[in-house]
Amino acid sequence: MSEILVAEELARHYSVGQGTFRAKATLRAVDGVGFSLQPGKTLAVVGESGSGKSTLGRMITLIEPPTSGRLSVEGIDAARPSRSQWKQLRRAVQMIFQDPYGSLNPRKKIGSILEESLIINTDMSAAERAEKAREMLRKVGLRPEHYSRYPHMFSGGQRQRIAIARALMLNPKILVADEPVSALDVSVQAQVLNLMMDLQDEFNLAYLFISHDLSVVRHIADEVLVLYLGRTVEQGPKTTIYARPRHPYTRALLASTPSVDPAHRAQRIAVKGELPSPLSPPSGCVFRSRCPHATDRCRDERPELREVDGRRVACHYAESMA
Ligand SMILES: Nc1ncnc2c1ncn2[C@@H]1O[C@H](COP(=O)(O)OP(=O)(O)OP(=O)(O)O)[C@@H](O)[C@H]1O
Ligand SMILES: [Mg+2]
Repeated sequence: MSEILVAEELARHYSVGQGTFRAKATLRAVDGVGFSLQPGKTLAVVGESGSGKSTLGRMITLIEPPTSGRLSVEGIDAARPSRSQWKQLRRAVQMIFQDPYGSLNPRKKIGSILEESLIINTDMSAAERAEKAREMLRKVGLRPEHYSRYPHMFSGGQRQRIAIARALMLNPKILVADEPVSALDVSVQAQVLNLMMDLQDEFNLAYLFISHDLSVVRHIADEVLVLYLGRTVEQGPKTTIYARPRHPYTRALLASTPSVDPAHRAQRIAVKGELPSPLSPPSGCVFRSRCPHATDRCRDERPELREVDGRRVACHYAESMA
């Protein structure tokens, strides 16, 4: 199948100050991540807070350039695009965020929120723009009369529908969704996820779906990429990974996945131990300080990502994780 996006060894490093008399340190927010996206398919990027998910999303949407690595979108070098290529790619890749309240301008009516990108990027007439906005409202399950209302008149789920409609106005090929349902009630989450899957089918969209929660991506994902401190620890087809996770971190995330039944949600347990400082990650395997299986080898030798049992995994003992 043809790829719409290919990322290889993508990295984003930040130089951060540590106080007046100390040298700047390098924070490796994303450190050598690779994947590809196909039209109509969803890659879920999963990991705890601080694992680098949003940083990865910002590189894919060209908000920030990678420090190193290769990124190609529609065959164009998206790490170093020319000005006209950059404009083309910014249309092709759109983003939606967790907070449907903060991302919609409260002083603007829904119609003008939706039409903004058309005014900037197309020469459509006012009537054509209004027609397109009303049609998009219908496609996301809202009504044409919502066109003249303000964001505060909508529920959280409806606002996320509006954010999705806005992202689709320029017919993008790729949608990066950064925790798009995390702020919504569980019942509303399922509706928005179903809408996203319908729209994916209709427009043949590729999704990069970011979540800290493996249970959220269970239905929508085709492929899963598990990040820990900016590094990929496990990556492969969803069914393979959910059926038998091979990395201890993926196993811990799956074990702490909350039940769909709200009565059992309180039983959620987090992965044990604190996330190490991203400024001084452990030697060897980044996960070893929290891994129940860690040995001296894990301290001394960084496990490379390698193919095991139909997925890629970075663990010296992946074969014995049954
Ligand atoms: N502009 C920046 N300058 C310095 N450090 C940054 C910057 N942006 C992100 N970081 C650091 O990079 C790491 C990854 O951050 P990122 O926001 O990508 O994580 P995340 O997986 O999206 O977390 P969350 O689930 O909380 O949204 C964190 O340690 C963060 O503090
Ligand atoms: Mg984030």
